[in-house]
Amino acid sequence: RIAGPCGLVIFGVTGDLSRKKLMPAIYDLANRGLLPPGFALVGFARRDWADQDFMQVVHEAVKEHARTPFRQGVWDRLAEGIRFVQGTFDDDAAFDSLASTIEDLDRERGTGGNHAFYLSVPPNAFTTVVNQLKRCGLATPPGDDPNQWRRVVIEKPFGHDLTSAKRLNKTVNDVFPEESVFRIDHYLGKETVQNILALRFANQLYEPIWNANYVDHVQITMAEDIGLGGRAGYYDGIGAARDVIQNHLLQLLALVAMEEPVSFRPSDLRTEKVKVLSATRPVAPLGETTARGQYTGGWQGGQKVPGLVEEGGFAKDSTTETYAAITAEVHTRRWAGVPFYLRTGKRLGRRVTEVAVVFKRAPHLPFDDTATEELGQNALVIRVQPDEGVTMRFGSKVPGTTMEVRDVTMDFGYGHAFTESSPEAYERLLLDVLLGEPSLFPKNDEVELSWEILDPVLKHWAAGGTPEKYKAGTWGPASADQMMARTGRHWRRP
Ligand code: BG6
Repeated sequence: RIAGPCGLVIFGVTGDLSRKKLMPAIYDLANRGLLPPGFALVGFARRDWADQDFMQVVHEAVKEHARTPFRQGVWDRLAEGIRFVQGTFDDDAAFDSLASTIEDLDRERGTGGNHAFYLSVPPNAFTTVVNQLKRCGLATPPGDDPNQWRRVVIEKPFGHDLTSAKRLNKTVNDVFPEESVFRIDHYLGKETVQNILALRFANQLYEPIWNANYVDHVQITMAEDIGLGGRAGYYDGIGAARDVIQNHLLQLLALVAMEEPVSFRPSDLRTEKVKVLSATRPVAPLGETTARGQYTGGWQGGQKVPGLVEEGGFAKDSTTETYAAITAEVHTRRWAGVPFYLRTGKRLGRRVTEVAVVFKRAPHLPFDDTATEELGQNALVIRVQPDEGVTMRFGSKVPGTTMEVRDVTMDFGYGHAFTESSPEAYERLLLDVLLGEPSLFPKNDEVELSWEILDPVLKHWAAGGTPEKYKAGTWGPASADQMMARTGRHWRRP
């Protein structure tokens, strides 16, 4: 579907996200013919820029980061709709000038009064910006036409804990009705993440064994090799759990564990996600079922890399965790007693995100003891990235004259199976915002439920101790391995 007449305003337009993801995504959408001809892109920031300067910045970002080939004609059309408004968030005059820029665009470009406001700004600026939008009349469409819209797009973190998330939701909902609020969790825009629902609910193969009778445990891993150089402003004091467990990993858990939705309509999907998140709790005692760590200097990919506290902007005694692992349980009949292990870390062995559903052992093995020494547990691994696909692991007879069983894998890879390419997550999500399609955006209650799950862990960590150090390039702190070993299990080495 192609978006109707509209424009997008980005606050925080000088930031990394804007340059690396948002601007290229807008160009890619234009290039695929998914934006309306009169589309307008307005940047708002403190820099002393003219429209031309901003246009130049967008141009460079597109050239460097867009996925689709550069086409002069597409760029020229897009560039005609680019504007810049200079100001700070508490500057009434700047917001008034934004309002008149938008009016002009409606007249000149036919944006029809439909505008989305993308808040790519630090959380402490959310309230100010949202209230400014209200003050200058930008939060509601100008006319009485019920098809006209105003939407707000919010980047995480949605708060710091449950209390602040509730406060934030209230602030936003006082100005924008919930159906106009689009909270970005870019994992939900990933092809492989959406495929979890296709895999589960389009097939007969998995669902019958997708429960506590057959599943031993689930491991959700988001490992990154990058460090935090340059991101201290955002990350220090936030840490790995707030950065990605509260959102990306708990959303993955919800998709893996939820019941079948009545349909794929947004409200039906949300009903099931809310249900499963309401039933999810961390497993106690938290001292034994969680782990946190902080990377120190080490070697990665043949290069020497610094530890967190040597990265610019982090205090020498920073207690920010760069690795976090938790154990959660979904208190439903389907999942009773099945641990969900969630882990994430920076500067780990390699970049990989996967969901591994690990099955129980066969109840009986009619083989000699030695025949199954190399047989592990069956597993279905959804490879979210970078090598997108699905792997099934099971035992097979080793060729030869004796009966011996060993683990083998069967692979599905997107690259081999499909000729179609998938859009970048931000591209898909931005288009959904402009279309008013809310399925891939967590609602206020989902966000609050996720905090409710994480809050006890954060409180436990805040009450004492410091993150255990782990060397860059390894798989995290020893306590994370001990946490698994206590239950007789181990982390997968992806
Ligand atoms: C972001 C986190 O949400 O996701 C970052 O704030 C993280 O810390 C990033 O690096 C990872 O995204 P992706 O798509 O590369 O897995």
